[in-house]
Amino acid sequence: MRPRVLVLNGPNLNMLGSREPALYGTDTLADIESACRAHARTLGLALECAQANGEGDLVTCVHQAHGRVDGLIVNAGAYSHTSIALVDALALVDRPIIEVHLSNIFRREPFRHHSYVSTIARGVICGLGSHGYLLALDALAKLMPRPCDEGTGHGEF
Ligand code: DQA
Repeated sequence: MRPRVLVLNGPNLNMLGSREPALYGTDTLADIESACRAHARTLGLALECAQANGEGDLVTCVHQAHGRVDGLIVNAGAYSHTSIALVDALALVDRPIIEVHLSNIFRREPFRHHSYVSTIARGVICGLGSHGYLLALDALAKLMPRPCDEGTGHGEF
């Protein structure tokens, strides 16, 4: 059984490609997801992708992943900066979570400098555009225990 990863994207990320390309690049979400699928194959990972615009829908996606996935990649969009509900859901997963932002949130408006998701993420990648998702997959491939490993569900570099 290959370790299973969920790539979860939040509000407005379904509009990538036409959404502020100077900030977020020209790749669509479908482009990003297919690059993730190809990279996951080379790493021997099974991949699922989900996107939702609603806060409650994202919470439900996390609940459905709970107990089923071995690691998560999350770009919660604007909810990164506002949603305690989402971070509470992510906290119950107890699997490595990598937070990704396409843009460098620290070079932007002050209200983007704090992320609730960062408080529970194992690592954070921001400012590297869509390549950040592939780097997050590399990190998870090292952090997730293989099915034959024992332990807590967390590996080390
Ligand atoms: C984002 C950064 C957030 O501040 C913003 O609300 C987004 C996208 C990023 O990927 O750079 O929707 O998460």
